[in-house]
Amino acid sequence: MKILVTGGAGFIGSAVIRLAVSRGHAVVNLDALTYAACLTNLTSVADSSLYAFEQADIRDQAALDKVFSVHQPDIVMHLAAESHVDRSIDSPGYFIETNITGTFNMLEAARKYWVELGKPENFRFHHISTDEVFGSLPSDTAVLFT
Ligand SMILES: NC(=O)c1ccc[n+]([C@@H]2O[C@H](COP(=O)([O-])OP(=O)(O)OC[C@H]3O[C@@H](n4cnc5c(N)ncnc54)[C@H](O)[C@@H]3O)[C@@H](O)[C@H]2O)c1
Repeated sequence: MKILVTGGAGFIGSAVIRLAVSRGHAVVNLDALTYAACLTNLTSVADSSLYAFEQADIRDQAALDKVFSVHQPDIVMHLAAESHVDRSIDSPGYFIETNITGTFNMLEAARKYWVELGKPENFRFHHISTDEVFGSLPSDTAVLFT
């Protein structure tokens, strides 16, 4: 199986890639290498024949279309994001561009690619987000299961 991981040079993405490669999956890492990236975290897989790196920005639709076309992934795991909350207060525009428009670009690229492939049932687009989307949890977590 080939997995396209966005934000694979980030904190969580790099761990996902190391695990996926160790389990025998081919991985394409699409990352713009912003201030949050750390390629050193991928040293252990950098020379693997299962690993490929594409420096690309999810704000660039044409670049995304090209990565899908060249690498033909079976699954997408989308982790590329502006993730540092403090920065969203000083520079909210970057968060809108990457987290909202960039994610929309990824969905559009994946949809086009999926349609071209004949809409395979097993194709998946996994968007990694945050529990903050659901709001605060109740103090008594037992209520979640009643
Ligand atoms: N780390 C946490 O504790 C945590 C908790 C909850 C949710 N999340 C979410 O999980 C996801 C990944 O988090 P993380 O901690 O690995 O983030 P991170 O900041 O460590 O890494 C983000 C990666 O995305 C890349 N990136 C940023 N903008 C990009 C762009 N425009 N195009 C392409 N690549 C770009 C960066 O270069 C970096 O490698 C994010 O959506 C984050 O909000 C993280």
